[in-house]
Amino acid sequence: MKILIIGSGGREHAIGKKLLKDNPNIHLYFYPGNGGTKLIGENIEGDYSVLDLSFFSKKNNIDLTIVGSEFILMKEIVDLFKFYKLNIVGPHYLAARLEGDRIFAKSFMKKYGIRNPKYEEFDSYDKAINFLEKNIINSLVIKTNGLASGKGVILTHNKNEAKQALKTIMIKKKFGDSGNKVIIEEFLQGNEVSIISIFNNKEIIPFLSSKDYKKIEDNDKGLNTGGMGAIVPNPYMNDYNWIDFQKNILEPTLEGIMSEKLNFFGFLYFGLIISNNKIYLLEYNTRMGDPETQSLLPLMKSNFFKLLMNAFNGEKINILWKNYCSCCVVLSSKGYPEKYSKGNVIKGINLIEEPFYIAGADKKNDKWITSGGRVLNIIGISSSIKEARNIAYKKIEKIQFNDLYYRKDIGLF
Ligand code: GLY
Repeated sequence: MKILIIGSGGREHAIGKKLLKDNPNIHLYFYPGNGGTKLIGENIEGDYSVLDLSFFSKKNNIDLTIVGSEFILMKEIVDLFKFYKLNIVGPHYLAARLEGDRIFAKSFMKKYGIRNPKYEEFDSYDKAINFLEKNIINSLVIKTNGLASGKGVILTHNKNEAKQALKTIMIKKKFGDSGNKVIIEEFLQGNEVSIISIFNNKEIIPFLSSKDYKKIEDNDKGLNTGGMGAIVPNPYMNDYNWIDFQKNILEPTLEGIMSEKLNFFGFLYFGLIISNNKIYLLEYNTRMGDPETQSLLPLMKSNFFKLLMNAFNGEKINILWKNYCSCCVVLSSKGYPEKYSKGNVIKGINLIEEPFYIAGADKKNDKWITSGGRVLNIIGISSSIKEARNIAYKKIEKIQFNDLYYRKDIGLF
């Protein structure tokens, strides 16, 4: 069995390790992969377009391709692979817009009565400023319309900050063309919850709930990142919230997907917030989350490959989970998500126990070297979040590199 995993983060290393653990005979390919994936499979070297990847899959008789990266999903990779009759996990282009085109996603939510924060959309800076001038402004969230690695979201507390945020996104183009259009959204106070699910073209089957720590600093301060840690399950997700989620988010999402003929086989991620005891959808992702995946997969009892194949064949899916909690802490290079140094020697990786995942690190002449902003994912597993957190932080004590930075409050809710 040959599987190609597309992406280069800790998430892709976690997917690869889980597949291999369940099915030791699988041969894994990664594009582009990272220093960790190289040790459990083959990294495809060079610059490959999605067309090149489809040729590679055909030539190498790849049985299944899993796309981790949202950027590649927006390049119509699933449509292309399907055209060549290649098996691939992920949404086709029209469905990938649920993540890659925020204005599309928000209008989908509105049309199908999916509970979400109020918003306005703008395709010009002047119109957005005009809106701010005419309205009383408290806290707002300004979001790029397109993909920005989780970073194109700015929380503002007053009119001035909102104007600055618009300038950063639409004039200074901090997030490139993803900020050509923006959403201005009401800010909801509350606790965020991530729910990843698998979609078999008929049913959406949720995984355990998780919590992602998006900000760079403790107590959720500072810039947004791709994610600095995650815990499973999310302590704020109680039975009442699950029922609310099913009724007001999941079921109307399924109805919308079916009505719009957006159905696909793959993952659907719900980025949620519980505010005043009601659950709201902040965003969809059409892939697994990073670092939620790194916290979730070590708790999955089911054979992940069989589960994917069942979903692929539209069969019923029943996911079994270990009755444990998990805590993932991301070790990053100081300066991330902005400028950071690379090439620092990492000591101690050989001293830590599984599970852990490599993100931005590479092995050169038997030495681990930093090569990215988010470097390592260290996981603790135990019967409580508190203990899982203790285990993760204990493991971290063994790791050293110049400019090592991590949040100290992952798992403190
Ligand atoms: N953790 C959120 C994401 O993967 O974008």
